[in-house]
Amino acid sequence: MKLPSPARFGTVCIHAGQEPDPSTGAIITPIYQTSTYVQDALGSHKGYEYARTQNPTRAALEGNIAAIEGGKAGFAFASGMAAIGAIGTMLKAGDHVVVSKNTYGGTFRFFDKVLTRSAMSFSYVDTADLEAVEAAITPTTRMLFVETPTNPIMRLTDLGAAATVAHRHGLRLVVDNTFASPYVQQPIRFGADLVMHSTTKYLNGHSDSVGGVVVATRDDDIEWLKFVQNAEGAILGPFDAWLVLRGTKTLPLRMERHNANGLALAGFLEAHPKVATVYYPGLTSHPQHELAKRQMRGFGGMLALDLGSLEAARRFLNAIRLCALAESLGGVETLVSHPATMTHASVPAEQRAVLGITDGLVRVSAGVEDLDDIKDDLAQALDRV
Ligand SMILES: Cc1ncc(COP(=O)(O)O)c(C=O)c1O
Repeated sequence: MKLPSPARFGTVCIHAGQEPDPSTGAIITPIYQTSTYVQDALGSHKGYEYARTQNPTRAALEGNIAAIEGGKAGFAFASGMAAIGAIGTMLKAGDHVVVSKNTYGGTFRFFDKVLTRSAMSFSYVDTADLEAVEAAITPTTRMLFVETPTNPIMRLTDLGAAATVAHRHGLRLVVDNTFASPYVQQPIRFGADLVMHSTTKYLNGHSDSVGGVVVATRDDDIEWLKFVQNAEGAILGPFDAWLVLRGTKTLPLRMERHNANGLALAGFLEAHPKVATVYYPGLTSHPQHELAKRQMRGFGGMLALDLGSLEAARRFLNAIRLCALAESLGGVETLVSHPATMTHASVPAEQRAVLGITDGLVRVSAGVEDLDDIKDDLAQALDRV
């Protein structure tokens, strides 16, 4: 099988990184569930020595996601946090990082409670405001770490402009692209140096695997990440690599539906009298809708709605039937969650207020079910509010 060059996005998702299995012709990359590889003779092997260092199923996934993101190489880790951990090893004592203010709580916890112990420092700024980013840069800043859209308020950062600022100051632009998925947004096209994902979300897409990936563009970063992946050993196992590889084949199909359902649900909720505010970049009421149109393909499946009070949110969340009350996102099932008491419970209440994460805020990860069934469920739950 020969991938056309250049191949289009959907074709890349299905084929990149994979060849039919050379021993059998199996079209799907097997799960190489092995810890070691037999060598032909002393000093003579097939490029595989030990499975922490190399695994063909993981290598296929890494090649696949690197191609999907338009990067040079990918590295798959045991979780999204392990991927961010690998990015953290690119820093050393004394280094400073500028981070999107409302970054994923686990990322904040890792930076704030782990990396600061090794004399690294972090400034959390609204990266939608590039003057604020520029003002936060110091002579020791090495990285600009951006999440766009942010969770759960869906604030955007202009990726092209962020890359210009980062590169003007000699920084790496790192983008956590988990929330959007590479179908919706490809940060490397806008100048990002490194892109990471929790593959747990849209890339795997079926809520049945935890994993992470870093895609790199620069040869020095690739060399380091390859070294660190083996040195730290937080690798993605072969079965999970296989699951994610299966997931990426349908990424465009799923994302089209996530996009369509997200947009339709946002419109439906915005028009509903019981909903105070809806946060979704696809709505013309979103303050950065024009930027969203420029840098996103569709607007994704994530949205948030404000019901005005904790009691209203509680009544709504306790009334849903088809949609599931659960953390996480990006799976085929519609999930709803309550950021103030779930994903953002560790963020102090005053800080939550500044970020707009009120007690009445509900986050929705729009799944790919039939739209009217999701709508009916949300409507009957809103009737209880
Ligand atoms: C935006 C974002 N980044 C990183 C992570 C961490 O990924 P994982 O849970 O796979 O470690 C998450 C998890 O929810 C996330 O939402």
